[in-house]
Amino acid sequence: MDHFRNPRNMGEMKDADAVGEHGNPVCGDLMYIYIKVKEKDGEEILDDISFQTFGCAAAIATSSMITELAKGKKLDEAIKITRDDVADSLDGLPPIKLHCSNLAADALRDAIKKYREQKKKL
Ligand code: FES
Repeated sequence: MDHFRNPRNMGEMKDADAVGEHGNPVCGDLMYIYIKVKEKDGEEILDDISFQTFGCAAAIATSSMITELAKGKKLDEAIKITRDDVADSLDGLPPIKLHCSNLAADALRDAIKKYREQKKKL
């Protein structure tokens, strides 16, 4: 409830390095994840992250939590965060709301994938 009432890292990031997008086929809701990456000692670190969602309360809470879980992590670690990690960190979600946590996890993976594709083109 706290992550729904006081969501962390919410809002558009104007100078993002990449924007991930994911739509939920179950309910039609949409999620954007913005990331900023910095290189440190040869590693790609998720320096900043924010989200924007047109989803339900569970989508807001899971997005807020995933931004907290991912911030400061290496991209290789952040890309492995699953919806179960997010649900566990929130002390579980009702089964009917589990699909909502896919939005943030999949949008984060999409953002990292897009960041890496852009980097390859440079
Ligand atoms: Fe659509 Fe939760 S019902 S994201």
